Amino acid sequence: MTVTETNPAATDENRPIGFGRLQRKEDPRFVRGKGRYVDDIVLPGMLHGAILRSPVAHAKIVSIDTTEALAHPKVLAVITGKDLEGLNLAWAPTLSYDVQAVLATDKVRFQGQEVAFVVAEDRYAARDALELIDVDYDVLEPVIDVRKALDSDAPVIRDDLADKTNNHIFDWEAGDAAETDAVFARADVVVTEEVIYPRVHPAPMETCGAVADYDPIDGKLTLYETTQAPHAHRTLFALVAGLPEHKIRVISPDIGGGFGNKVGIYPGYILAVVGSIVTGKPVKWVEDRSENLMSTSFARDYIMKGEIAATSDGRILAVRTNVIADHGAFNATAQPTKYPAGFFHIFTGSYDLQAAYCKVTGVYTNKAPGGVAYACSFRVTEAVYLIERMVDVLAAKLGHDPAQLRIKNFIQPDQFPYANKTGWEYDSGEYEKTMRLALERAGYDDLRQEQAEKRQNGELMGIGISFFTETVGAGPRRHMDILGLGMADGAEVRVHPTGKAVVRLSVQTQGQGHETTFAQIVAEEIGIPPEDIEVVHGDTDQTPFGLGTYGSRSTPVSGGAVALATRKVREKAKLIAAAMLEVRPEDLEWEKGRWFVAGDPSSGKTIAEIAMGAHGTVDLPDGIDGNLDAEVTYNPPNLTFPYGAYICVVDVDPGTGHVKVRRFIAVDDCGTRINPMIIEGQVHGGLTDGVGMALMEFIGFDESGNCLGGSFMDYLIPTAMEVPDWETDYTVTPSPHHPIGAKGIGESATVGSPPAVVNAVVDALAPFGVTHLDMPCTPDRVWAAMQGRATPP
Ligand code: CDP
Repeated sequence: MTVTETNPAATDENRPIGFGRLQRKEDPRFVRGKGRYVDDIVLPGMLHGAILRSPVAHAKIVSIDTTEALAHPKVLAVITGKDLEGLNLAWAPTLSYDVQAVLATDKVRFQGQEVAFVVAEDRYAARDALELIDVDYDVLEPVIDVRKALDSDAPVIRDDLADKTNNHIFDWEAGDAAETDAVFARADVVVTEEVIYPRVHPAPMETCGAVADYDPIDGKLTLYETTQAPHAHRTLFALVAGLPEHKIRVISPDIGGGFGNKVGIYPGYILAVVGSIVTGKPVKWVEDRSENLMSTSFARDYIMKGEIAATSDGRILAVRTNVIADHGAFNATAQPTKYPAGFFHIFTGSYDLQAAYCKVTGVYTNKAPGGVAYACSFRVTEAVYLIERMVDVLAAKLGHDPAQLRIKNFIQPDQFPYANKTGWEYDSGEYEKTMRLALERAGYDDLRQEQAEKRQNGELMGIGISFFTETVGAGPRRHMDILGLGMADGAEVRVHPTGKAVVRLSVQTQGQGHETTFAQIVAEEIGIPPEDIEVVHGDTDQTPFGLGTYGSRSTPVSGGAVALATRKVREKAKLIAAAMLEVRPEDLEWEKGRWFVAGDPSSGKTIAEIAMGAHGTVDLPDGIDGNLDAEVTYNPPNLTFPYGAYICVVDVDPGTGHVKVRRFIAVDDCGTRINPMIIEGQVHGGLTDGVGMALMEFIGFDESGNCLGGSFMDYLIPTAMEVPDWETDYTVTPSPHHPIGAKGIGESATVGSPPAVVNAVVDALAPFGVTHLDMPCTPDRVWAAMQGRATPP
């Protein structure tokens, strides 16, 4: 894959410290196969756990007979829901104030649900013993079609909840319904489309797993876990299991990809802990690929009725949507408490509107719980897909060029900070500049010319555009919490006597390169080279409290904490330098790495000299106790609003419906860029995700509730064969409120790319009168659309 990035403003590419294209500090261990993942943890006497899962989607459990399994010579324990009831652990709280069965007691509610847990001497024996457990199921009618979940005759899935007589979870709305209706009533043009974002899965390379080590002597639990949020998990374990929080240590070692899949607390984690407590030995549980795809957090599953009101000359006045959200059998989505539909209300997009209104209804179905996961910034992915698809529907209706229609409706630079109609305050943006750069990089006019010529010959070429605005970096804590834990993050910076440093983070990398970029933030602020800065993360005993890494929040929140903590160290260093130089602090000036006397640059102290002084015998000023360190909890004033302009070019085979992505141009703006190489990596990965979702990824179910996406034979993910050489570029519009002006980037490309691909496919099919096609645009769907059919035969 080649990379083209031509922006002449890229002057910071090779700076040795601070912002720059540094090679990743963590890569030497990864490329040598020396990463240490949960499955690499081997403890003395460690046992292995395996989970028996339900083969059916909805059934009463009549009986569970574990006699034969217990008789297996290598089995030490077989745990059922009834055993957990005795410990008050059969049900655990979800991240959305619901409860989820750790092991089913009364009913199973989705195929793949956890029914029993075997602990054995080795993994094979544990798996073998699962076959020896005899469960008698009384199969019930399942609820699979989300549109029928609220029918009065639909079976009630959650009859465990007192007084629950239907499958309704919540109704949530944002914006002003009456005002929006009024704008719609006076609009020249209204377009409407049902837009489905199907159920997909994060499918990280490493599945979920845990090693629980409970020490009965001192009552301490050490839990190695594939988690994106070690601190939040520790607190929740303390609350659920009743263990004292200081007696729980959660270690999240190297993580092989998270994408939101590792935010929630899965029954497997809890069962590993129970297994360790019951047997008195460490217990490892690592799920296989099918378990991961069938039972852990899915993403999306939104059916959205989108509407746009506009003038006949293409000014967008208002948007409106009504959404049915399929949450599966338990409401286990992860998002701030106030927002049951996450940040979906960013669906107003990048446009200056008069009114907007959305309503989201969450419902239970007999499918795996989860939701929100998969690089989605709390449902921003769904929101961006909806608005960007709908703008193209409007463009088709009006016969307008989709690029020009977007430019006409953009929020203008002088409107920032911009209060949108659903409650967000966008921090900064120069949308038209970014859009025009993308059009120029694509050679847009030439592409349209080529398309016109090809259409003459019956060739199907499509050009798809998407312009997205994200809202990333949750907090602020007064508005945002998960189960009452406010969304802020801590950081600690300590400079050792010899001038080397350690920075401790509350967020947890899953491959994003935090060990490099957070060292770069410290380096930029204080002038210590990144290679002299150790980044510690993923261990609750060694790091300050914070809510973890998801929703591209690490740089916006934890990055801010690190910058501010380092600035505190710099200010402390100033006072110490003044004492060492016997001048007043106000007489000192800073240059990177050093305080010196104003007007006498030769008289100064480097950070290393100051660090030694701080730990030595220098007579320090009042209030300075010594050492060179600081800590900060950063509660961001707002989220950050990265954005981008994406253009996708596809060729569709008229005979087979196969879609080939020929070109993809991505111009991103994430404010101040810390490490351009890492940013490109994040963008390449996200674009690949987007092509996957647009063209092939899908977790489907048959009418009995059998999961049809339970292996990589059925759940297709893109490889290098399906993606083009990415053409990336960027603009820089710093966030005005972030300490270094940085916005998140981790999820931008996953958010922005699916509508560009689908818009391109629909554009290619325009000669057939096609104005919408639901993802994934598989060859059979595309072919059916060409035949004038909504679905394949
Ligand atoms: O929370 P997560 O790490 O997934 O997302 P992020 O904060 O957007 O950061 C992803 C990676 O890109 C991290 O290594 C960041 O430090 C880096 N990044 C960057 O170099 N410059 C930015 N403006 C934003 C992120």
